Amino acid sequence: MADLFAPTGAEAIKTYICTQETAEAVLAQLSDAQQKIAQFHGFDGGLSQALIVHAAEQPIALLGIGNDAARKRGRFALAAAAAKLPDGIYEFCNDDALQGNPVELVGWFIDQYRFDRYKTIKRPARQLVKPDWADADRIAAMVEAEILCRDLINAPAADMGPAELADAVRELAAQHMAEFSIIVGDELLAQNFPMIHAVGRAAEQEPRLIDLKWGSAGPKITLVGKGVCFDTGGLDLKPAASMALMKKDMGGSANVIALAHMIMRMKLPVQLRVLIPAVENAVSGNAFRPKDILNSRKGLSVEINNTDAEGRLVLADALALASEDNPDFILSMATLTGAARVAVGPDIAPFFSGSDAFSSALLLGCHSAQDPVWELPFWDPYEAMIEPDIADLDNAPAGGLGGAITAALFLRRFVNDPEKYAHFDIFAWSAQNAPGRPKGGNSTGARAVFEALPKFLNL
Ligand code: BES
Ligand code: ZN
Ligand code: ZN
Repeated sequence: MADLFAPTGAEAIKTYICTQETAEAVLAQLSDAQQKIAQFHGFDGGLSQALIVHAAEQPIALLGIGNDAARKRGRFALAAAAAKLPDGIYEFCNDDALQGNPVELVGWFIDQYRFDRYKTIKRPARQLVKPDWADADRIAAMVEAEILCRDLINAPAADMGPAELADAVRELAAQHMAEFSIIVGDELLAQNFPMIHAVGRAAEQEPRLIDLKWGSAGPKITLVGKGVCFDTGGLDLKPAASMALMKKDMGGSANVIALAHMIMRMKLPVQLRVLIPAVENAVSGNAFRPKDILNSRKGLSVEINNTDAEGRLVLADALALASEDNPDFILSMATLTGAARVAVGPDIAPFFSGSDAFSSALLLGCHSAQDPVWELPFWDPYEAMIEPDIADLDNAPAGGLGGAITAALFLRRFVNDPEKYAHFDIFAWSAQNAPGRPKGGNSTGARAVFEALPKFLNL
């Protein structure tokens, strides 16, 4: 997407951005006729107000982004107003209200995303002349990442199985001249990924482990994303209502792919690795069963107490591999538990971190990224809950109390250095349309991490 912004010099509609506090002063600069029209329509800078004022002069656009309180209730305040503008090219004359936050411009573009797999809007209908202060590459990186993430999640499972997910990573690798490799089917057993194989073996498409490597200097960062392309629950079959959205169970992988794109597009000086166990949790005669005991790459045995707790199993083998080359940081993202949703709802990405430095960089980063995250604890006293009688670990502790925490503790068992590990339990979906976040697949936490990484790693 080379030409995100309209070319400079394009004939554009002059656009004034107002808050409720600044509207009066901005309107005072306009002609009498323009002021009268604005007044007639009751324009006062309120959130999501948009007005084209067409008096004797050239038309201008007025956008309202409200007051602090209104803005706190949503993200992407600019997008909320811009959504009401007709197609055209716009140029800001007065954008102090945006306080130089590039993410508001990202919102302008990603609000216009519609899932049309074969006709993604390549050139947004509401175009924008680049404000001087904006870094076009950085904004493009974020917008492209968001579109990629949404397209991957929104694609139905029939068109986004493990093979197609692998193709998407292969393409991304080619785009950034990264190394791509993959282990497929029974080769997973030969190379000691027993849990990825066990979860994925019942599906028509073979399970696989996708591996991308990029960059030759700087800290080693490994991203691990849950790539369950469809989660039926397995033999512990999900009821219809719970299964309905499970094409999005590869949302963790879509988010790490989006994050990887931003990192590579902006050439962050890191050695990046992306690992995605890509499987379908299906039902068949050869499906893994409740009470089976699986071996894992790390050597820990796992008693299966619910075949629907499959994400932690495939992630465990990938995390064990991630640890083998001792990276400086490992980060996993996964649509892992319903418990995380109950705890914080759909918008907020709960994360678990073994590093205080990472947590504080992230909690700062999430504000400017307008990508809310919230820390939950790796609560050691709950370790006992994931230890069954007859194996090392239990994949689904009875009762389910603290389900997001016990899942995170389970994953942590598979990394070598818990202080260099963070995990995100995300939703990756919006049930309703909101400014900048249309209904359907959405990134959750990827931009917050992207903002935080340079601070955290002193890049
Ligand atoms: N993919 C689901 C988790 C999920 C459900 C994420 C709904 C987002 C929305 C996961 O594989 C799962 O089914 N987890 C179970 C685990 C339980 C059986 C221990 C859950 O959370 O109910
Ligand atoms: Zn499941
Ligand atoms: Zn799942």
